[in-house]
Order: sequence, then C-alpha cells, then structure tokens
Amino acid sequence: MNESDVRQSLESARREGLEAIAGATDMASLEEARIRVLGRKAPLSRARSGLRDVPEDQRREVGRLANDVTDEINRAIAAKEETFKEAETAERWEREAIDVTLPGDAPPIATVHPLTKTIWDIVDVFIGLGYRVAEGPEIELSTYVFEALNMPPSHPARGEQATFFIEGRGDEVLLRSETSPVQIRAMESQEPPVYVVCPGRVYRRDTQDATHLSGFMQIEGLAVDEGITMGDLKGSLEHFAREIFGRSLGVRLRPHFFPFTEPSAELDVLCFQCRGSGCRMCKQEGWIEVLGCGMVDPHLLEWVGYDPARYSGFAFGMGVERICMLAHGVADIRMLWDNDVRVLDQFRA
Ligand code: DAH
Repeated sequence: MNESDVRQSLESARREGLEAIAGATDMASLEEARIRVLGRKAPLSRARSGLRDVPEDQRREVGRLANDVTDEINRAIAAKEETFKEAETAERWEREAIDVTLPGDAPPIATVHPLTKTIWDIVDVFIGLGYRVAEGPEIELSTYVFEALNMPPSHPARGEQATFFIEGRGDEVLLRSETSPVQIRAMESQEPPVYVVCPGRVYRRDTQDATHLSGFMQIEGLAVDEGITMGDLKGSLEHFAREIFGRSLGVRLRPHFFPFTEPSAELDVLCFQCRGSGCRMCKQEGWIEVLGCGMVDPHLLEWVGYDPARYSGFAFGMGVERICMLAHGVADIRMLWDNDVRVLDQFRA
C-alpha cells in the first residue's frame, strides 16, 4: 500500500468505525462494535499494518493520522458507554425509587393487660385520696399470715385457708393466701398515720373454674389515723365504687366476719344488670359482692406497737380479677390469664 492508500483506508476505517459505534443500542452491541472496529482483523488494524510500506519520510505523519483515528474511535466508545451507564442509572433510580409518601405498615401495638389496667385504675382512686402503694412478699412467714392477723394456732379460721406451705419448712413459710399480711408490714415500717394500698399476687389451693384460680391478684387497703370511724370506711369505699364502676349505683355494707377486723363487712354494689330486682348475674340477690372490709381489730394495732386507745383504722381487700370481670362483663376468670390476644385486644382503650 502506498501512502495515499493507507490514508484512505484510515479515513474509511474512521468513518465506518464511528458509524458502527453510533449504531450500538446497548452495552452488548457496543462491545461487538468495538471488536469489529478495533479488533485484530478490523480494517483499522489492517490499515495500520499498511504503515510498514509507507516510505519513512511520510510514515510519521501517516502514523499520527492512524493514532488520531484510533483515539477518536476510543473516545467515541467511551462517550457511548457513558450514555448507556447514565441511562442505566436513571432507569435504576426509577425502578428502585421509594415513595416515602405511601402509608407504612403499622406495627401491631400491644395493649395494657386488663388486670394491670384494673390495678392502675383502683390504685389511682386511692392515690387521689392521699394513699401510697406498699408491697410485701408473696412467700410469707406464717407469723404475718396468721398470728399478726389475729389467727393464733388454735384459731378455726386458720384451718379453713387452703394454703400452699413451702416444703421442708413445716408451717413456718407459705405462699400468702391474701394480701392482708402487707397491712402488718406497712404498719411495722412506719408510725401512724398510715394510708396504703397494696396490690399483689396471692395463692390458694383452689381448683380452677370460671370464678376460681389458684393464683390471682388482690388489692389491700389500710387507713390508720386518729379518729377513723366506720363512716370514713363507708365514704371511702363508696367513692371507690363510683370511680371504678362509673355509675351512680347504690352500695351497702353487709355484716360479715374476718379475723382481723371488728366489726367486719362486705361491700355490695347494686346489680349492674337488674338494679336490684334480681337476675342471673346477681344470682337473684339484687346486689353484687365487691370486697371485704372492716375496722382494724385493736389486736393488730397492738401487735405492731400502735396505741389502740389513740389510733383506729379501717381495712379492705378485694380480688382484682373479680373487679375487672364486673367492670367489663367478663364471664370466666380464666380468660384473664389465658392471654389470648383476641381477648386482650378487646380491652384496647
Ligand atoms: N383478706 C380478705 C380475703 O382475702 C379480704 C379482706 C377482708 C381484707 C377484710 C381486709 C379486710 O383487709 O379488712 O378475703
């Protein structure tokens, strides 16, 4: 090939090369075009080999032209590649875009357990009256469960209690069957006046059914001060009943017996359903029993070293499950401990 042939081949390689590159539609066809245009058997390579035949004095200039063509083709390939990459990035942005304005999947939010809520509600009523919360151990000494609560070893009420004793400790240590021992611990730990509510778990050797469990919750209340009367007891509990059951229902105190109070009573509220005429809910009584209460027996005050001539008090104790069932119309106590989410969800406030 002479100089002019080589020049012509280079120029046509440039033209065809640029055309091939311009015609590529994606990365794959661009790669094919690159091999066709710059590969060993490409017209450009052949034209470059023709340089050998060009006389030396012209070879330099033609060589520059060959480099020029190669550079231009390389630049065209790079530019084309860039446009494909940009298009791909743009397409990816589009595909992977997140619409932050779409509503999200709301995570399920748990509810406060109805028993916890009931405890909070009851405790709140008494906090509002100036009481504080006191707690005592679930595993208790029999001194606190029995002796201090006016049940000496010979007392008949002691035998009635279906109690769990801790094995190997005789009858010294047991699971408390009521929260009343907390009254003693609260009085021991401070001087009067005492105004406490004591929520906690209690245990009884009972067979489970719709109204019994072997472990359940109670709230104890105790007020000891100078000049406390049965009128204070009735007024405080009336207030409690109104706040919790949310109705202007009548309440009554019905005489009863507890070893640690004298006199003792049970607080009834007028039946929610029949308002006194008698129905299935109140077992034809017209009234529903809510809690036990009474004036603190002076023996208890003496036991903790208070002067019964100066101080008097009232106390009460209620089953949390029972209050919760009455307040929400729950028919079976076990529903409150099964923790079936479908049930618990119905207590969503
Ligand atoms: N402890 C009693 C029970 O479990 C309830 C009770 C009654 C508590 C009278 C008291 C009270 O403090 O004065 O049935």
